[in-house]
Amino acid sequence: MKPFDIVIVGGGGAGLYAAMEAMKTNPSLNIAVLSKVYPNRSHTSAAQGGANAALANKAKDDTVELHIFDTIKGSDYLADQDAVDILCSEAPKIIRELDNIGTPWSRLDDNTIAQRPFGGAGRPRCCYCADKTGHTILQTLYEQCLKKGVFFFNEYFVLNLSVNDSRMKGLVAMNIKTGKIEAFPARTVVFATGGYAKMYWNRSSNAAGNTGDGQAIAYRAGIPLKDMEFVQFHPTGLRKSGLLVTEGARGEGGYLVNMDGERFMSRYAPEKMELGPRDLVARSIETEILQGRGFDSPAGKYVHLDLTHLGADLIKSRLPQIREMSMYFEGVDPIEEPIPVRPTAHYSMGGIDTDNDGRTVMDGVYAAGECACVSVHGANRLGGNSLLDILVFGRIAGRTAAEEARKFEPAPITADEISQTEAMLRSYMRPSGHFERYGTLREELGQTLGMNVGIFREASKIRKGVQDLKDLQERFTHVRVFDTGDVYNTNLLQVLELKNMLDLAETVAEGALAREESRGSHTRTDFPQRDDGKWHKHTLATLEGGSVKLGEKPVTMGRYELQERTY
Ligand code: FUM
Repeated sequence: MKPFDIVIVGGGGAGLYAAMEAMKTNPSLNIAVLSKVYPNRSHTSAAQGGANAALANKAKDDTVELHIFDTIKGSDYLADQDAVDILCSEAPKIIRELDNIGTPWSRLDDNTIAQRPFGGAGRPRCCYCADKTGHTILQTLYEQCLKKGVFFFNEYFVLNLSVNDSRMKGLVAMNIKTGKIEAFPARTVVFATGGYAKMYWNRSSNAAGNTGDGQAIAYRAGIPLKDMEFVQFHPTGLRKSGLLVTEGARGEGGYLVNMDGERFMSRYAPEKMELGPRDLVARSIETEILQGRGFDSPAGKYVHLDLTHLGADLIKSRLPQIREMSMYFEGVDPIEEPIPVRPTAHYSMGGIDTDNDGRTVMDGVYAAGECACVSVHGANRLGGNSLLDILVFGRIAGRTAAEEARKFEPAPITADEISQTEAMLRSYMRPSGHFERYGTLREELGQTLGMNVGIFREASKIRKGVQDLKDLQERFTHVRVFDTGDVYNTNLLQVLELKNMLDLAETVAEGALAREESRGSHTRTDFPQRDDGKWHKHTLATLEGGSVKLGEKPVTMGRYELQERTY
C-alpha cells in the first residue's frame, strides 16, 4: 500500500475532528482513518450529557476564567494549567464551529444554544442535544470527513506500531472482515482510540470495544502512559448493566435518594448536593450502600435517582434516551418511578502522555481524546469536559500532524513483519496441553479490578489485585482461540483486546499502589488525605523487561495555587 501522510486510529469524535482539521490544514494530504467499528457506532455516541463552554447563554455572568477554575479544582489540582487554559478558551469557538457545520444543539427560548448545570461547575455551561449529544456530534463530523475526502478503513483492528530503531514507519492491522493482516505505512499516526474503563467489565458504562487498544499499543512500543491510576466512576450507572444515566438528569433537577427516603447528598456536599463533582458523588453513593442505606436486589445494591417530580414533558423532551434505557434495561419508567442506579466505571483520566499539541515522545506519533493524557482532567474529570476534550485536542492533534507530516520520510513495512504477526495470531489457535478460555480470564479481570482497584482502595487489596493480574498474565499465555476461521473472528479479536486490557490493568494497579494519598477519583482508605508534598505530580508508566516501571512528571501550575477542595 502507498504510504499515507496521516493515519488516524479511531473513528470517534477525537479521530474525526483530527481528520477534518488535518484536511483543512493541508487538503493535499493523504489521510486515512482506521476504525474497529463503523465510525458512527463509536463510543462517542454514548456521551449523553453535553460539552461545556462558557457561552454565557444561560448564566450571563459565566466566563472562560470560571470554567478554567472549575476544571482545575475538579481535577484536584493535578491538571496542567496551561492545557486547561487551551481547553476552556477554545470551548466557545468549537461549539459554534459545530453549530455552523450542522450539529443540532438544543436551544433556549431566545434561540441561543441551550446550556444546563453539570456537576462541579459554578454555572450552567453544558451545551447539549437533548440526551444524545455525542451521537449527534459524531454524525456531523462523519459527514464532514466523507465530504472532505478522508479515506475510511472500517472494521480494522490495529495490532502494532511498526518501529525500527525508534523510527515509526506506520501500523500493522487486521481487516476484521477477512482476517487479512495488512501494512499501513504512514509518515504520521494519530491515536484516538478512546478509553479503557471497559476493563471493569459489567461495572462499566463503556462500549464493549473500549479496551484501551491505542494506549496498549503505544505502551508496548515504548511510549509512556500518564496517570493511569485515575479511573472515573460515574455516580449513576443503571443497576444491572452499568450503562450511563447522564448527569444531565441531575442537571435537570433529579434527586439521589437512599432506602430511608433521604436526599443523602446533603451529608456530603451541602451546597452542591447532587451536582457535586463525580468523584465525590460516586463515593457518597458507595458509602450509603456500604453503610447499609442502599436498596438490595439480586442484581446488587443500589440507590434511587428520582426524576418523577420533573414531569412527563421535561423527561420526554430533554431526557428521552434515559427514559427509553430505564424502561428497556430496568423495567422502570422514570416518569412514574425512580431509577435504580449505582456507580459505574466510566472514564480513563490516564492515557498516552502528550504535549499540548498532541505530540508523544516518539517522532510522528500523536494522540488525542480519552486515549491521551494532556492532562486537562488531572485526578477527576468534570462532566461535560470529555466531549470538549475530544473536540479541542482532536482538532489540535490533527493540525499538528498535518503541519509536521511531510517532515517524516515514509519507510516500508516489510513482508517479514507481516508474516511474523500472522504467525503470532495463529499461535493462539494451537496451544499445546493445558489451555485457558477467554471468557473466564475476561470475567476474572473485571472482578479483581472492581474488588481491589475500584472506588475505595487500600494497600492490601491493591496488592491482591496486582498479584491477580500477574496470574492472569501467566494464564493468558495458555489462552486458546477456538474459532480458527478468518472472517469476523470475534474470538480472536476478544483475545487481542484482553491482552491490551491486561497490560493496561497492570499500569492502573501499580499506579494505584504507588500513589499513597487520596486525590480526585483515587481514594486510598489507608491514606485518606491529599499529600501535595509527596504526590503533587503525574505518574508515568513505561514497560521495562515485561513489567511496569513508574516514573514521574511535574504538574504545570499557573494562576491557581493549591487549595483545599470543598463543595
Ligand atoms: O453524564 C454524562 O452525560 C456524561 C458526560 C460526560 O462523561 O462528560
